[in-house]
Amino acid sequence: MCGIVGYIGNSAAAPLLLEGLAKLEYRGYDSAGIALVGKPSEKIKAEKPDGCDIVSATPGAKANQGVIEIYKSKGRLSILSEKIRGGADLTANVGIGHTRWATHGKPSDENSHPHRSASGLFAVVHNGIIENYAALKAKLINEGVEFVSETDTEVIAHLLEKNYNGDFLGAARAAVSQLQGSYALGILCAEHPDEIIAVRNSSPLVVGLTDNGNVIASDIPAILAHTRRVIQLSDNEMVRLRKDSVEVYDSSGFPINKKEILVDWDVSSAERGGYDHFMIKEIMEQPQALAATISPRIGADGSIVLDGINLTAKQLAGFRRICIVACGSAYHTGVVGKYVMEKLTRLPVEVDVASEFRYRDPLIDKDTLVIIVSQSGETADTIAALREAKNRGARVLSIVNVVGSTIASESDDVLYTWAGPEISVATTKAYSTQLTMLYIIAFYIAHKLGRIDDRDLRRLLSALNRLPDMVAGILRQAPDIKRISQRYAYLEHAYFIGRNLDYAVALEASLKLKEVSYIHSEAYPAGELKHGTISLIEEGTFVVALACCDKLFEKTMSNIKEVKARGAEVMVVTTDDRRDVISEVDQIIYIPKTNDLLMPSLEVVPMQLLGYYISLARKCDIDKPRNLAKSVTVE
Ligand code: M6R
Repeated sequence: MCGIVGYIGNSAAAPLLLEGLAKLEYRGYDSAGIALVGKPSEKIKAEKPDGCDIVSATPGAKANQGVIEIYKSKGRLSILSEKIRGGADLTANVGIGHTRWATHGKPSDENSHPHRSASGLFAVVHNGIIENYAALKAKLINEGVEFVSETDTEVIAHLLEKNYNGDFLGAARAAVSQLQGSYALGILCAEHPDEIIAVRNSSPLVVGLTDNGNVIASDIPAILAHTRRVIQLSDNEMVRLRKDSVEVYDSSGFPINKKEILVDWDVSSAERGGYDHFMIKEIMEQPQALAATISPRIGADGSIVLDGINLTAKQLAGFRRICIVACGSAYHTGVVGKYVMEKLTRLPVEVDVASEFRYRDPLIDKDTLVIIVSQSGETADTIAALREAKNRGARVLSIVNVVGSTIASESDDVLYTWAGPEISVATTKAYSTQLTMLYIIAFYIAHKLGRIDDRDLRRLLSALNRLPDMVAGILRQAPDIKRISQRYAYLEHAYFIGRNLDYAVALEASLKLKEVSYIHSEAYPAGELKHGTISLIEEGTFVVALACCDKLFEKTMSNIKEVKARGAEVMVVTTDDRRDVISEVDQIIYIPKTNDLLMPSLEVVPMQLLGYYISLARKCDIDKPRNLAKSVTVE
């Protein structure tokens, strides 16, 4: 999705904006641009870099007014950066920047942000979708406004100018009041060259406070190199940044005091640190991420300590059911969660993808515990599902990685996964830590409800505590998995099968492979294949069978034999006590054995490596897979 940055301070803005945008590249984009307000950059203007749109001084400009210059270009950020020589000749201290992920209009120089108003008085960058843009555009055209792009965003620039009478904040308020949809905006005004105005509604935006000015960004990694002091904006809040002040206003325009959050991620956690890709770095970081998520939740006396939960045993006993709602991989953790929670708590657990849940008139009420799972805490469908659940009176507990994000701030209870920043679009360490939190919640509820006793709890927690070391052991097999993966670089199709918890992991294994390698892949409950999909199995079809579930091992083996008999090339992931399988299959990956319920945390790891190494062998753009974005902030 689009990425926004903004800077106002004592330093030259352009290099900082380019650096911030580079940190947001992982979100996915097809073009990039920056706008600066201040003194004109004569040198660049004289050279007029190819493809860049440089707006000259506003007609009738006041003597002391700034000039807005816009440099933008289709394609990679490096193209823009090269054209303006990394911003070396651009001296303005105030600017906004954007990476665009096309929604309205193809990727092109014209459709790239920033967009400007007709006279060049305003420049705007936007993340989100303006749903009523067509009506607004028609009205503006009727009033004589000429549009130069196909975007929904351009209407905002023109609305700002239409509503301006010298009051920048007032114009921003008036323009925003006409918008429907989702937006995070960064706005410049040539007559107020010492201010940036930003606003958010259903699209993420953070403010960073530094000793050398103030910044805005779509995501924390973009500002981490400069500050860890952050203000998370909530929906409909507007902020006016000056180089030495930040004023936040609520939706009615009243100034409000927002809490400053100190983010404890360090800069290196958002850098590749010697790895070729963030994906492999984050896969390798899993032992630390798991330990950081597990250890604070186990008290010295062996009890579970849930920092963000305020649920008493009495309240827990009042829940008739649990509903887990999320998107993508986070949803897949919910599928594991369903098996584990039902088994331990004996409460009915439903799991749903957020985009379905929100529109299906779900049967939930005050007796339902809704568990929302999200790495970013900003996924649009998941936020909508959360609100739907709250409107129906449910108690909402969320598992989130980004502190202070929308989902975290709107939930009744929050449990953070301490995975650190996850940059790769394909989630790995966030998935693993989400899974761990679901385990801990399951143990907690089951114990409070008396469904497991102290001894069971100790046994489960001690197995959980051993996961980081066991995952580290599996990661040492990376060179072997890399070698095996070379063989599958030219695959067109893949099938992942398993039963019970193995099936839940198959869903994630399949997504991991397809999203980065572009190989068509499906996950199936192993016992369900024969009801249709087995007709696709022929000589050489690649089937990965997850067979770690002890009690169903023989059944899965029968399904493996069925696909083998039809010519499939079969890879099996199983526990290291199953030596007899070797002769039956083409490839085998062994992992250590732990408590059956916790096996997903181990078996997913070789599947992440498989997805990564096959994509590497196919020379895919692993950290920025086509059409994908890290944080999906539109519906
Ligand atoms: O930030 P979230 O956890 O809410 O994101 C949910 C999904 O968009 C995300 O898990 C997605 O499926 C990943 N690309 C999977 O690798």
